[in-house]
Amino acid sequence: MADEKKYVLAIDQGTTSSRAIVFDHSGQIVETGQMEHEQIFPKAGWVEHDPKEIWKNVREVVSLALSRANLTHRDIAAVGITNQRETTVVWDKNTGEPVYNAIVWQDTRTAKIVDELGGSEGQDKYKDKVGLPLATYFSGPKVKWILDNVDGAREKAEAGDLIFGNTDSWVVWNMTGGKDGGVHVTDVTNASRTMLMNLDTLTWNEDIAGDMGIPVSMLPEIRSSSEVYGEGREGGFVPGVPIAGILGDQQAATFGQACFEVGMAKNTYGTGNFVLINTGTEPVPSKNGLLTTVAYKIGDADAVYALEGSIAVTGSLVQWLRDNLGIIKDAPEIEKLAETVDDNGGAYFVPAFSGLFAPYWKSDARGALVGLTRYVNKGHIARAVLEATAFQTREVVDAMNADSGVDLTELKVDGGMVANELLMQFQADILGVPVVRPKVAETTALGAAYAAGIAVGFWSGEQDVIDNWAEDKRWEPQLDEAERERTYRLWKKAVTKTFDWVD
Ligand code: G3P
Repeated sequence: MADEKKYVLAIDQGTTSSRAIVFDHSGQIVETGQMEHEQIFPKAGWVEHDPKEIWKNVREVVSLALSRANLTHRDIAAVGITNQRETTVVWDKNTGEPVYNAIVWQDTRTAKIVDELGGSEGQDKYKDKVGLPLATYFSGPKVKWILDNVDGAREKAEAGDLIFGNTDSWVVWNMTGGKDGGVHVTDVTNASRTMLMNLDTLTWNEDIAGDMGIPVSMLPEIRSSSEVYGEGREGGFVPGVPIAGILGDQQAATFGQACFEVGMAKNTYGTGNFVLINTGTEPVPSKNGLLTTVAYKIGDADAVYALEGSIAVTGSLVQWLRDNLGIIKDAPEIEKLAETVDDNGGAYFVPAFSGLFAPYWKSDARGALVGLTRYVNKGHIARAVLEATAFQTREVVDAMNADSGVDLTELKVDGGMVANELLMQFQADILGVPVVRPKVAETTALGAAYAAGIAVGFWSGEQDVIDNWAEDKRWEPQLDEAERERTYRLWKKAVTKTFDWVD
């Protein structure tokens, strides 16, 4: 058939870059386009992105991926969107102009706002409704900051002129027509990271929005993760192509890793690390510092929930080593440097750059490098940097085991840092369970592609995802247990050195 569409396009709007990936029916990557965007640090603890740069890059990476694959929009059955979650954009729906830069999920400027919102009830005030502790991480308080601090924003919001979205909503609104009829939507997974959505009904909680002074008219319509939301606008880069999947990036990776059964878990190594474990069709509250979140909702089927261990700084610590200290020239070099030594030489690096996320939720923690002696060299620091990722993962996996009462038996991994063999071996060593990498490690984009493809009948459902998933490599634990627990105990001690740092 001449007009048979053989591909699905995924757009992954991430923290450091935007990517477009074309997938074929077997879930293999055909071509990729990628562009980094500027990280804006106006003050200590503040992190912003320019939403217009992001939108420009999204357009460019799509045309790059399509032209490299020698395809046009006519070959694409559907587009799926996945995104850095929580990052907050507020824009004028009449002009399409953002009123402020996007406030990134890592940004800590809302520390005072979240303290005040908690009041005498504290951090867990809204937890039974939204599954999240009050923390700087989530979108709601970021919207409040914009309305409180940008001249004229509150008046315009109350007049119905301003709308809010995470970068999924921002991209979809622009793709579908922008100020000329763009659809203002999000999916349940992104909505579950705002602190504004009831986890049980999957609807906005107007009381919490009221507490934060956020007009409900600003909020996008909440939809499932797999359905047709709209079509690419005429004159755009995918005119007439259905936009049919939206998943927050960590949920997309969970979907792409085929974690469809209760107890299946994945860990994505990106800017931060995010471990998600499928808990089935009922939300499960955490007693150990994890988040309760929506994993996915396919069309009219019941929503599936997850417990999540969110770690703010992992890959971005390697970037920091490269950009701020210049110890390495590029990210892969860290493995070579770490291989020049046998161990961490006693050094532990706790990268609490955005406070500590799971399982601590301490906004006032700050980074620490401890255990230093004259013996320590840059090889040891490189090792301590990689080990920090593995230790932080162990902490959230311990919390998951405690919450579920069942010990994880293996961990599926994906994301950029899984190319680092030294880290993967250390991860298996420090967890004491095998670590498993799939053949297609780009599971974030793949998950969004599946969600979109399922909505338009390109794939028939979850079984296709399971059939396409294939193991690439497995690392078995090799470290003896006494040594594993000794080094982990020292890590835990190092973490306590970061507490209560901000005056
Ligand atoms: O919650 C933040 C997360 O979605 C960011 O993911 O891959 O952009 O670091 P990533």
